[in-house]
Amino acid sequence: MPYVIGGNCLDVMDKSCTEECPVDCIYEGERKLYINPKECIDCGACEPVCPVEAISQDRRVPEEHKPHIADNRAFFTEVLEGRDAPLGAPGGSHKVGPVGVDTPMVRDL
Ligand code: F3S
Ligand code: F3S
Repeated sequence: MPYVIGGNCLDVMDKSCTEECPVDCIYEGERKLYINPKECIDCGACEPVCPVEAISQDRRVPEEHKPHIADNRAFFTEVLEGRDAPLGAPGGSHKVGPVGVDTPMVRDL
């Protein structure tokens, strides 16, 4: 069960989480970050370091942030604006760098 970044990250983007993740699977959009559910090993190291409590395991995501479960996945499986292929599982966010765009759901929040 992967971890999920919910709406509290929006326009905060503290990024402490990215320093903790042992598999570097937290990727940067324009207004928030997203956890790659295919790469997350469910270690939970990111959860306590987020100052706005944006991160939770998918089965514990608060009701109002539940749309972010599918949306974190969509960031990697859908073709984002300005790109010609989905990100997929690129194997490390530091390698990829800031993606710089968000999912349509987040863009329209
Ligand atoms: Fe966002 Fe919290 Fe990480 S604000 S960037 S989820 S530390
Ligand atoms: Fe990384 Fe957090 Fe998953 S630290 S492995 S994104 S639980």
